[in-house]
Amino acid sequence: MRPILTGPSIDGNSSWMSMAAVELQSQEIGIRAAYGNVVVLGLGMGWAAINRAIREEVSRVTVVDINPDVINLMRNCGIFDQIPEVARNKLEIVEDNALTWRPDHKVDTLLADIWLKLVEPEKFDQARQMQHNIQAEQVYVWGQEPEILRLCRAHRGRDVIPDRALIESVVENDIRLPLMLPDWPDFGERLVEMGNWWGRENDRF
Ligand SMILES: C[S@@+](CC[C@H](N)C(=O)[O-])C[C@H]1O[C@@H](n2cnc3c(N)ncnc32)[C@H](O)[C@@H]1O
Repeated sequence: MRPILTGPSIDGNSSWMSMAAVELQSQEIGIRAAYGNVVVLGLGMGWAAINRAIREEVSRVTVVDINPDVINLMRNCGIFDQIPEVARNKLEIVEDNALTWRPDHKVDTLLADIWLKLVEPEKFDQARQMQHNIQAEQVYVWGQEPEILRLCRAHRGRDVIPDRALIESVVENDIRLPLMLPDWPDFGERLVEMGNWWGRENDRF
């Protein structure tokens, strides 16, 4: 059984969150690399924020969500009471708009996850706006891998297997965010694998 949350979002679209495998896998890089003062934009079902708070390398997790119903649901269902106290004490939930919110402290890690879909055209303009306000040392945008692959393909053609230099070049010059990237030697191959799987349903690639 996998929990799924559905309902109307602030802009009238259907908003959903789940613990499906694709959700968990697509958050893993951003969870494993989180350290220091962390900001999570988008509470959802809370599991991504909790997994960051559990990490020893993380000292504080500020979660910003625009929807009071989501915040109250997570508070009232007692999910935060079920985690170790040391992690619970790191968590703070703020009701605000992630596009305009500014922290009152230095932020090491920013995780942006307010969107309905993995691939959305306006995602990176909004992520740059968030980072402009927050000035984090490192950023993870949910769905950054498809965007990296799309840009690599835009530069070198659909058959490219991106190497480290190309990946770093599109992140620096096109995406223009200090994105967290895994140091896997086969990251380029994995991006292509992801693209082949995702691209079956999504012609944006
Ligand atoms: C896909 S969910 C996040 C799922 C999350 N990873 C989890 O652990 O379940 C997106 C969340 O972003 C919130 N959200 C959408 N637009 C927002 C905005 N402009 N500012 C803050 N939160 C927003 C929604 O209310 C929703 O809770």
